[in-house]
Amino acid sequence: MVCLGNICRSPTAHGVFNNRIKNAGLADKIHVDCSGTGNYHIGEKPDRRSIETAAQRGYDLSSFRARQVQANDFERFDYILAMDNANLRDLQARCPQAYLSKLQLFLDYAGADCEAVPDPYFSGAEGFDVVLDLIEDASDGLLAYIRDRHFPDPVGG
Ligand code: 4NP
Repeated sequence: MVCLGNICRSPTAHGVFNNRIKNAGLADKIHVDCSGTGNYHIGEKPDRRSIETAAQRGYDLSSFRARQVQANDFERFDYILAMDNANLRDLQARCPQAYLSKLQLFLDYAGADCEAVPDPYFSGAEGFDVVLDLIEDASDGLLAYIRDRHFPDPVGG
C-alpha cells in the first residue's frame, strides 16, 4: 500500500487489509506492508487523525512507522497499490521494467467509481472518513480478487 507521506492513507489501507485477511483466515499466507513515495515523515507514527478515525471502526494503526519505498520493494511484493495517480507515476518512474505490471491503483479494486483516495492531510475530519470508506471498499474487492486467484476453494471443500 503506497501513498505520499505513509502517515495517512497507506497505513490506513495496511490496517484495514490486515483486518480483512485476518478475518478470512489468511493472515499467515499474505504479508501486507505500506510505504510512502516521499521522505518527509520517515520513522513517524501515522497521523493522529488517521489513528483515531481508524480506531473508531476497530482498526489499530498505532504500531506502524513511516518508511519510504525502497528499490527492493518492487521485487519483494506481488501487488504494489498506489493511493492516487501521482503516487502511481512516482512508482512507475522508479520501478524496474520487469515489475511494472505489479503497479496498480488501489481503487481499481473498489466498487466505487473513483480513481484516487484523496489526500486528507490538509482536509478536515470528514476527509479521513472518506478515506476509510474508499479503503474499506477496495480492501473487500482486493481480498475477493486474491482469494479467487490464489486461494480458490478446494473442489468439494
Ligand atoms: P498520506 O498524506 O500521503 O496519505 O500519508 C500526506 C501526509 C503528509 C503530507 C502529504 C500527504 N505532507 O505533505 O507532509
